[in-house]
Amino acid sequence: MITFKIERFDPDVDREPRFQTYSVADNKEMSVLEALFYILENLDGSLSFRYSCRGAVCGSCAMHINGRNRLACQTLIKTLNSKTITVSPLPHQKIIKDLVVDMDNFFEKYEKIKPYLINHSVEPEKERLQSIKEREKIDEMVNCILCGACYSACTMSALDGKFLGPAALTKAYRFYADSRDTAKKERAEIVDSEHGIFRCHTLFNCSEVCPKKIVPTYSIQKLKGAVAKKRLS
Ligand code: FES
Repeated sequence: MITFKIERFDPDVDREPRFQTYSVADNKEMSVLEALFYILENLDGSLSFRYSCRGAVCGSCAMHINGRNRLACQTLIKTLNSKTITVSPLPHQKIIKDLVVDMDNFFEKYEKIKPYLINHSVEPEKERLQSIKEREKIDEMVNCILCGACYSACTMSALDGKFLGPAALTKAYRFYADSRDTAKKERAEIVDSEHGIFRCHTLFNCSEVCPKKIVPTYSIQKLKGAVAKKRLS
């Protein structure tokens, strides 16, 4: 049997979070998300957690599993190599209930970086084309699924509630580096704020936990260079 220690918090009843323990048959092919479903359906119908795609695409099942932020649907029990699995909500986020956290702050920051192409030139008849080489420059950042694992692991995001954070900054670079986008100056100005890129202390916590193997630190360093260039021009 595998022991699941799950952090529980019901704001209507609990004053602070507590841990509850459940035993689940040892099926190493099972993901942590499937184990949570087993608990929900067979042991405790009051357990709350968030999910959607079950295939590491939507990013909604990010949580803290055995000491690290991970996607529950992507994490197989056998990879944790432990008879006890501890599951908590993403750290430093307001808990709504059990493993569900409030992501409003995270998405507000995402909106701040204007996460869409800006191009004021005359629209072509069909689409704006991009070469394979141009696309390669943003391949990694396009893969970000906005799960919040990096944001929740970031020490600066925890200390400075207004810091844009690694996910928003990665997306900022994704559009900054897009050959079809013409708002480079505007984008550099957005990230060159009191709570922008220079708050990043390059601790790499974000890069260590990304379930998509993205390195937000790389995007942030690139943006720092872009801002320095803008300041000198
Ligand atoms: S359920 Fe969509 S990423 Fe896990």
